[in-house]
Amino acid sequence: MPRGLGAAEQFVADIAALTQPDAVVWCNGSDAEHARLIGQMIDAGTLVPLNPDLRPDSFLARSDPRDVARAESATFICSAREEDAGPTNNWAEPTQMRNTLHEVFTGCMRGRTLYVVPFSMGPVGGRLSQVGIEITDSPYVVASMRIMTRIGAPAMREIAAGARWVPAVHSVGMPLVTSGGTRVQDVPWPCSETKYITHFPEGREIWSFGSGYGGNALLGKKCYALRIASAIARDEGWLAEHMLLIRLTHTDGRRYHVAAAFPSACGKTNLAMLRSVLPEWTVSTFGDDIVWMRPGTDGRLWAINPEAGFFGVAPGTGESTNPTAVRTLTQNVIFTNVALTDDGDVWWEGLTDSPPAHLTDWQGQEWTPEIAAETGRTAAHPNARFTVAAEQCPLIDSDWEDGDGVPVDLILFGGRRASNVPLAALARDWHQGVFYGATIASERTAAAEGTVGELRRDPFAMLPFCGYHMADYWAHWLQVGDSLTRPPAVAAVNWFRKGPDGQFLWPGFAENIRVLDWLLRQSEGQVPGRACAVGTLPEPEELNLDGLELDPADLREVLRVDAAGWTSEADGIADYFTSMGTAVPKVLWEELARLRAALAAQT
Ligand code: PEP
Ligand code: NA
Ligand code: MN
Repeated sequence: MPRGLGAAEQFVADIAALTQPDAVVWCNGSDAEHARLIGQMIDAGTLVPLNPDLRPDSFLARSDPRDVARAESATFICSAREEDAGPTNNWAEPTQMRNTLHEVFTGCMRGRTLYVVPFSMGPVGGRLSQVGIEITDSPYVVASMRIMTRIGAPAMREIAAGARWVPAVHSVGMPLVTSGGTRVQDVPWPCSETKYITHFPEGREIWSFGSGYGGNALLGKKCYALRIASAIARDEGWLAEHMLLIRLTHTDGRRYHVAAAFPSACGKTNLAMLRSVLPEWTVSTFGDDIVWMRPGTDGRLWAINPEAGFFGVAPGTGESTNPTAVRTLTQNVIFTNVALTDDGDVWWEGLTDSPPAHLTDWQGQEWTPEIAAETGRTAAHPNARFTVAAEQCPLIDSDWEDGDGVPVDLILFGGRRASNVPLAALARDWHQGVFYGATIASERTAAAEGTVGELRRDPFAMLPFCGYHMADYWAHWLQVGDSLTRPPAVAAVNWFRKGPDGQFLWPGFAENIRVLDWLLRQSEGQVPGRACAVGTLPEPEELNLDGLELDPADLREVLRVDAAGWTSEADGIADYFTSMGTAVPKVLWEELARLRAALAAQT
C-alpha cells in the first residue's frame, strides 16, 4: 500500500498519463469547489435543481437506464491465486486484468477533467479510520463522495503525514475526444457498455470502469470499505462488515450498541433509524450500511461507521416505514432516478399512500397513475437512491463521529424468511453466532431473478462484498471471537415470517424494538427464555408487548421451531457448506451436527 504525498503525486501523474484528461483538479472539499461542480452539472443536464422552497439545495440526477445498479457480473476479485477469491466471487487473473484495464483506461478521460479526491473512511485521524485517493472523471462522483465520505484537505493532511492509502481509479468510460481526434458531444449521464469493477486485494487497489452508479463508482463504499477492507481486516485481525450500527439508551441510563447484518431489501436502513415504541428505550443512529469493528484492549469489539452519509433506496421509504429518513431528506440531497413532481419536488413509490396525479418519471417521461395502470411503469426506478449526509438524520447519535468507536453488545443476523426461522433466537456462544451469520438466507422476491420463494444464501449479507474466500472469512470471524474476552451476544432475527394465510405474523418496523429489548434482557440473564435447537427463544410472555395488539396464535407461530422444517433446513446447510469447499471451518460443521442432534432430541 502506498504511503505519503510523493506517492500520491506519482499516482496522479501516472493515471493522468494513462487516461489523458484535459485538466487535473485536486479536490479540497470546500463549499466553493462544490458549488462550482454543481453549477457545471446543472449546465450539462446531469443535475436538475429541485424547487428551493420545497427541497433546498437538492438535485435530481437521471442515470442512463442501463446504469442503475451494481454490476455484479462485471465485479472482479483479482487475487494472485484463484482459490483466494473463493467460490462466491468472480476471479480474474491479475496480470491479464491489468492488461485489460490498461487497454480500456488508455485515453478514456480525453476531453474530460480528472478529479483527485482524497478521502477518509471514518473520522479523519480516528483510531479505526483509513484513507484513500479516488481519481474520477465524474463530477457526480465527486459530489456524492463529498456526502458519503470525508473528502478534501483533512484527508490530504493524513496522507501528507505518512498515512498509508488505498489507490482507487474510476472512469465513466466515455472519452469526449476519439483516438482519431474527433470531439463528441457529452451526455447528461456518461457511461459505457464495457464495465469492470475490479479489486486487487493484495495490492489494496481498486479500478472501476464504465459506470457512474453508486456501488460501482463511489469507491470508498462497497469497493474499499467492504471488499478491500475485508482483506485488510483479515490480515490485521479486525472485521469490515455490511452492517448497520445503532445505540439503545434506556431511561435508567444503561446503553447498548447493536450491529446488524441483513441482505439488501430486508430493512437495514429502517432499523438503523427506528423510533422506539417502548418509552424506556431511545434508539439513535450511527450508520445504516457498513461497520468496521476491532478488538479493543478491554477484550470487547469496538465499532465505527466508516461512512459519512446514507446512499439509501428511495422506493418504500415513507412516513409509515421510515419517518426518520423522510425527515433526513428535507434538504442537501442528491436524488438519483426518482420521479419529479410538477412543482419541482421528488416522489417515489411508497413516499405517500397515493401518487400525485401527474409526474415526470425517472426516465424523463410523462407519468400518471393511469399510464402506470396501463403500462406497469413505475414512476421511480425500483433502485432509485438518495444520497444524504448522516449528520442530517434527526436520530444521529451525538457520538457517531467518535474515532475510538463504540463497544458492540449485540450482533444480529437476519434475512427474509416466510417460514421456519423464528422471530428471534439468541446464540449460546460465538460459534453458534458465526453459524447464524454463515447460514443467512433470504427468499427471492418477485422483483428479482430466479424462482419466487427460492432461498438465496447470503452469508453475513456479504455475498457480493467479501474480498476473499467466503469460508476463510468465516474462519476469520471464529478467530476474532477467540481474541475477545467480552464478545458481543449474537442473535438471529426474522421479521418476515408468514402464517398459512400469507400474512406477516409480526408487524415489524418500529415494533422491532420489542425484539431488541428482549434480546438485551436475555443476554444479561434477566429472563430465562426457552433453550431449543436453534438457540434461546423468547417465551411469549417475556416479550414486552405493551400497546401492541397481536393474536396470541400468531405470536406462538412466529416463535415456533418446527423439527421437520429445520431438519430439511439442516440438509440445505450441509449441501451449502459442501459447495463452499474444504476451507469451511470444522467448527461450523460441528455446529451443524449439534443442530441435528438437538432436533433429533426435540422429536
Ligand atoms: C449500492 O448499490 O451502492 C448499495 C449501497 O447497495 P446495497 O444497497 O444493495 O447494499
Ligand atoms: Na444495489
Ligand atoms: Mn448495502
